[in-house]
Amino acid sequence: MGIIENKKSKTLTLHTKHSSYQMKIGNLDYLLHLYYGPSICDTDMSYQIMQYDRGFSGNPYESRDVRTFSLDAQPQEFSTQQQGDFRTTSIEIVNGDGSYSYNGKTAGYKISKGKYQLETLPCVFANKQDTADTLIVTLSDVVSNVQVELLYGVFEEADVITRAVKVVNKGDKPIHLKKIMSTCLDFLNGANFDLVSLPGRYGQERQVERQHMTHHIHTIGSVRGSSSHQQNPFVVLCDRETTEDYGKCYGFSLMYSGNFLAEVELDQYDQLRLVMGINPKQFVYELKPGETFEGPEVVMAFSEHGFTGLSHLYHDFYRTNLCKSKFVSDVMRPVLINSWEAAFMDFDDVKLIKIARAAKDMGVDLLVMDDGWFGKRDDDNSGLGDWFVNEEKIRCGLRKLVEQINDLGMKFGIWFEPEMVSEDSDLYRAHPDWAMEIPGRRGVRSRNQMALDMSRKDVQDYLIKQINDILDEANIYYVKWDINRSLSDIWSNKLPETKQGEVYHRYILGLYRVMDAIILTHPDILFEGCSGGGGRYDPAMLHYYPQYWVSDNTNPIDRLKLHYGTSFVYPTCTMGAHISDNGKYIPLETKAVVAMCGTFGYELDATHLTDEERAICKEQSDRFRKYYHILFTGDYYRLTNPFESGNMTAWQHVTKDKSESLLSVVVTNLTCNGPQEYIRVKGLEPEAMYRINDGEAVYSGAALMNAGLPINREISEYTSFQFYLARQKR
Ligand code: DGJ
Repeated sequence: MGIIENKKSKTLTLHTKHSSYQMKIGNLDYLLHLYYGPSICDTDMSYQIMQYDRGFSGNPYESRDVRTFSLDAQPQEFSTQQQGDFRTTSIEIVNGDGSYSYNGKTAGYKISKGKYQLETLPCVFANKQDTADTLIVTLSDVVSNVQVELLYGVFEEADVITRAVKVVNKGDKPIHLKKIMSTCLDFLNGANFDLVSLPGRYGQERQVERQHMTHHIHTIGSVRGSSSHQQNPFVVLCDRETTEDYGKCYGFSLMYSGNFLAEVELDQYDQLRLVMGINPKQFVYELKPGETFEGPEVVMAFSEHGFTGLSHLYHDFYRTNLCKSKFVSDVMRPVLINSWEAAFMDFDDVKLIKIARAAKDMGVDLLVMDDGWFGKRDDDNSGLGDWFVNEEKIRCGLRKLVEQINDLGMKFGIWFEPEMVSEDSDLYRAHPDWAMEIPGRRGVRSRNQMALDMSRKDVQDYLIKQINDILDEANIYYVKWDINRSLSDIWSNKLPETKQGEVYHRYILGLYRVMDAIILTHPDILFEGCSGGGGRYDPAMLHYYPQYWVSDNTNPIDRLKLHYGTSFVYPTCTMGAHISDNGKYIPLETKAVVAMCGTFGYELDATHLTDEERAICKEQSDRFRKYYHILFTGDYYRLTNPFESGNMTAWQHVTKDKSESLLSVVVTNLTCNGPQEYIRVKGLEPEAMYRINDGEAVYSGAALMNAGLPINREISEYTSFQFYLARQKR
């Protein structure tokens, strides 16, 4: 059992294989946080708590004679509101009597086997072989009768702890939630922390930034209605000394696709608090008596082995405990060719078949018909929402088109952007009230499109029916699910004025309901997520889609950074990566090496390639399939940092048993007559001998890891190498 209760010390300890997490029902039944970090056996960490009279820090009423106890200086599991703690709160409530106050004290707890599930939001699950346990601690405010349930999931072998939160209004008046954080973590000694985050922009998502903590609140978040291109719902807290391979780090990954917030506050006493959850911006959620609100899950992991150790924990866990699609591990992902960069919206059935026929020679398994096949859609000003086939383009009809592709021995995939509507569409003309726009104001357009009000059940039902009908009409093997704007003009015509502060969140709940009803009912279809590239690349989306389009930027040199940043938390088998015409000066081989760091595919007009180029692509597709088991199930190592100046970017995949490895190197910046480059690999067995590229050369794992492989300098920029390392029999 990964959860130990000690009635004497009033501590609750969560144990994973290499980490411990401890809390205590402390003074006046406040739930104090004692520890998170390397395993501490069963030590009672209460001795860490020091209490002094700190001027200007408030003391709870019951302890007014004892001025040494102030929540302002105590580490807490869930920071309260208006109780003398002036740091960032985990909850903000307007009570039924109009007061702003929440005083949650421990009212009980329950330990059970297995992992809790949330009713309204996606979350991770336990597999049969996992040891997973649940702790639920109930906090209660005796005046308002509002209860907060803190949910903890402990995955012992996986070294992962999850947290989520529920608010239950047990009072007799409606309350309004204005802020509710899913996790709150207080470190007593926080002065030495750095914060790592993944900021970016369209075309350049998830770049890596690191900053020292100073005495203020550092916020990472999104108010774009989605987890966004600009920030990702993942942050790392690490020691200042932590590097790629060494040092302590804590990861926090939020399973939510809407507005999110992570706040990290270094306080006056050098204590550090992190809270993470739904962004409070324009969030006011009414809870009537008896109603419950669920906050999304945060997946937390701790590693003493630097960013690599932390990434490995997330990669392993997200590969097995996040998405139930058969394409996660049972069925090999197809090599696909996508029509977008090949033809944009200028295609018809004949052109698609020509592309498919040419792609067949490239070893491609699947043709994806991207944007442009439905309604009136010759450019991006019209048609969204009209999910029926445009028979002026697809003259033979969808079913016949798919049959023709299938007859070539290929599978067929299709694109949707369910959440959006064009003003110039039949759907908008029939239901203008379904699009989000504030009454009396003309809404912001983005790509000249509007967002549907996904909080409405009629909108959800329409999408479920329309899309399921298409999926059931023909033999569809793959779906790309896109969204191409941020949300604004937040308004629902179905909700009263007093509930408009719920729309952002209800949009996401509606979206998940639609995804449940389309994706989970089609277990044989491979779904790929997309948001103008990688604008909603988050674990909640990866609960539904085994893969996500990393970025619209297919330039392989930019992709080096994109893949590097994305890999901090998301496994490379989730990264949609294609070879395109982007970067004419970059060799086809380099494009392939980079795309093999993801799901591998093509996004170009295959009919424009020469026979020789198609033969090269065939070899690449075959190579991807040959190394699939290394790339999709192995450990991934970032060997160099493409954000630092260096001549080469290198990464590596190693099978779990260390018997095979694929080392990939791209030369990005050759200096004239510079020093020899050696790439030191990782993760091999030191005493074992490894044969390089099935050739004559055989070196020990120790040599390859400590001295490295010399890389030929007599090459030009953007050249790439792939080394297959095979352990030799002893
Ligand atoms: C944005 C996506 O990222 C592209 O790959 C493509 O599908 C377009 N949308 C289509 O509109």
